[in-house]
Amino acid sequence: MARASQSFTCTACGATASKWAGRCDSCGEWNSLVEDLPGDGPAPVLQLKKKQAITLSSLATEEAEAPRIISGIAEFDRVCGGGLVPGSALLVGGDPGIGKSTLLLQATAALAARGVRAIYISGEESGAQVKLRAKRLGLADAPVELGIETRLGNILATVEKPTKQPPGILVIDSIQTVMADAIDAAPGTVSQLRGTTQELVRFAKRSGWTVILVGHVTKEGQIAGPRVIEHMVDTVLYFEGDRGHRFRILRGVKNRFGPTDEIGVFDMTGNGLEEVANPSALFLAGRRDNSSGSVVFAGMEGSRPVLVEIQALVAPTSLGTPRRTVVGWDSGRLAMVLAVLDTRCNLSLSSCDVYLNVAGGLRIYEPAADLAVATALISSYCNVAARFDSAVFGEISLSGEVRTVAQSDKRLKEATKLGLTHAIVPAGTNAVARTMSLQQVEMLNDLVDSFLIQADGHTAESQDARTPHENNNR
Ligand code: TYD
Ligand code: MG
Repeated sequence: MARASQSFTCTACGATASKWAGRCDSCGEWNSLVEDLPGDGPAPVLQLKKKQAITLSSLATEEAEAPRIISGIAEFDRVCGGGLVPGSALLVGGDPGIGKSTLLLQATAALAARGVRAIYISGEESGAQVKLRAKRLGLADAPVELGIETRLGNILATVEKPTKQPPGILVIDSIQTVMADAIDAAPGTVSQLRGTTQELVRFAKRSGWTVILVGHVTKEGQIAGPRVIEHMVDTVLYFEGDRGHRFRILRGVKNRFGPTDEIGVFDMTGNGLEEVANPSALFLAGRRDNSSGSVVFAGMEGSRPVLVEIQALVAPTSLGTPRRTVVGWDSGRLAMVLAVLDTRCNLSLSSCDVYLNVAGGLRIYEPAADLAVATALISSYCNVAARFDSAVFGEISLSGEVRTVAQSDKRLKEATKLGLTHAIVPAGTNAVARTMSLQQVEMLNDLVDSFLIQADGHTAESQDARTPHENNNR
């Protein structure tokens, strides 16, 4: 008989491999591959004993959609696609300490206050810890039913206990602490995580309870991360943010019942998470006039426009290989913009260290940020501040062309709403307000020229004439 083939799963990204390696080929994480135990992998070909045809039907249905369960926390409801769906399973992932337990405790309390049965099972903290947190959040009187348990069988037995109340919300904090006796592996391993999640998803479907699973993003190989179970649940949300900042972003990355890409913005205060209804105003607070390298990017997060400040610093390097440090944006995308500036616009950035930062701890994924990043870089390189009242967006192609992006009117309207009166945009973008002047850019080179002209003006005026770049080092 042939030897059963081995397979390995990456605990960071969930990719499978037939051979063990020190580094995952898919995500590049080190020491994250673990061997799948028999039963983990695809099922073997079965000898089916009984075959019976099932009834097929058309797609038309008379059934109305079950009403969504609304928590009243608007930022949370929107990211869930307009409220929670009964009988669905939801995963909330995020770094340890980012505020997942706080968010879900507040959400369950809000739901319970609206008459939804809400059970919160903690496997990480003691009852006293959860109760103290609830007290601090002012939620001690909320009718949430709290349980401290890690065994899946006990959790299900508790929730399935017959009552007259309709199904509600079950929060499991966190799924990595839950274990099923039937699975011969430690809690937090890939097999436990998959097995327990599958059982909880099945429970949600058959009972009508909404199950919310908390999953820690992990850096160690032994504890599997939430990505391993992303494909099993209906909705995946990630709670992100920089622990040094107060702002937290709840981002939808998968949703079987609504749009993805939506974000909810929260402010972590001493009294828990507060909703931020107008994130643009918050992200732009604290900008300083006349600083070079700072630009406002008019972005879109799902259906909502968000303005955010992008800061760049270009400084001559003392290292053989110049440093590139990015916070909040993709470093590959930055390399591309730098290469275009270098090759198509003759800016010698290859001898400079480049630092890029998205203010406020937001992470941007849109290619529409290209032009804003390029403008910040050019502004820092030339030491010329971009107009303080301007917003920027546009995609840059490898040829140095500036391309139009989707929903430019929504972006411009948001900029106008926040009092900006100027915008640097791709050629062909239409104005939405008379009060706003547009600088239409066809080729990135044109934008560089406009900054260099201003830089020349500056140096002619100043007594110690320097090239723009030396000017930068003062
Ligand atoms: P927590 O919800 O325990 O994070 P997670 O479940 O994702 O691990 O939140 C922990 C952090 O939140 C902790 O550093 C303290 C901070 N925090 C506040 O700033 N204000 C609050 O009201 C609460 C409850 C927590
Ligand atoms: Mg927690």
